[in-house]
Amino acid sequence: MEKNIDWANIGFGYMKTDYRYVSNFKDGKWDNGALITDENIVINECACVLQYAQTCFEGMKAYRTADNKVVCFRPDLNAKRMAESCKRLEMPIFPEERFIDAVAQTVKKNIDYVPPYGTGATLYIRPYMFGSGPVMGVNPAKEYQFRVFAAPVGPYFKGGAKAITLRVPDYDRAAPLGTGHVKAGLNYAMSLHAIVEAHELGYNENLYLDSKTRTKVEETGGANIIFVIKDNTVVTPKTPTILPSITRRSLMYVAQHYLGLKTEEREIKFEEVKEFKECALCGTAAILSPVGKIVNHEEEIVFPAGKGISGEITKKLYDTLLGIQFGTIEAPEGWIKVIE
Ligand code: PLP
Ligand code: COI
Repeated sequence: MEKNIDWANIGFGYMKTDYRYVSNFKDGKWDNGALITDENIVINECACVLQYAQTCFEGMKAYRTADNKVVCFRPDLNAKRMAESCKRLEMPIFPEERFIDAVAQTVKKNIDYVPPYGTGATLYIRPYMFGSGPVMGVNPAKEYQFRVFAAPVGPYFKGGAKAITLRVPDYDRAAPLGTGHVKAGLNYAMSLHAIVEAHELGYNENLYLDSKTRTKVEETGGANIIFVIKDNTVVTPKTPTILPSITRRSLMYVAQHYLGLKTEEREIKFEEVKEFKECALCGTAAILSPVGKIVNHEEEIVFPAGKGISGEITKKLYDTLLGIQFGTIEAPEGWIKVIE
């Protein structure tokens, strides 16, 4: 039985669900893992995650489809990306097949929290790993926990379909040879001050530029960015310092193979952006959120979405991606995992 939740009006926030998955790494190996009910974690005061932020996470969703199946979207890519994060942070890899199985088990045990089709809500899934063992000198932990929890969520940006506003902050997100390409908790810790400031000033998100030259567009604190240029080509930044968004990679495929559009992954200079027709943020949480305005100090760039006119290509991309995720449009082979 579905839980009695006002699905259409939930935001993007934490809600305790019934089960979470946990596996411990000790003496060089992962244990068998289990589903537990306790949402709290007890770890050593000197755990590497607490002292040196040795932690990474993933974000994915379970969708209830039009024909009432529960599915996940490309979980293999989350498993692979988490493995990359683990390598960069000197953490042990949780094997791909076990990652997918842990996600499936967590969704299955919390199936009553998967929102009904048509409400716009989904079950957000958060796999994560952290160094639980104590370290005093700067070294990786010897013990780790891999966990997965889930919570039903609505839109990431408040205000529903309203286009969002970004500002270019006076802060950087990722160093040229840093950790911008992995989903390390530390990337988000350092963005907290910038996001609080952005919200105080009335912006929804920060649009970061490359930290070396501060001339090129990178991404926002929690999503990649795409643009549509004059001839309807879909353009997105190519740089090793941004997170390789699974949504963005999927949208570029959808643009080419479902909508017959040209796509380009390339360096994007901030000074080009004023020439572009449409702009949107993409990610698991953000889905595809139209950007209405970008403010870079005195300069304001307004897209038609900011005047209430929905971007034609953004809308087609959104409808096609959601059709694939919610099972009304046939998905490319291997994109959809049914939870049985
Ligand atoms: N960029 C950042 C910094 C993110 O936190 C996220 C969220 O996961 C994304 C991009 C989007 O990635 P994905 O589409 O895989 O969710
Ligand atoms: C996601 O989209 O899954 C993320 O992890 C973004 C996060 C900032 C909410």
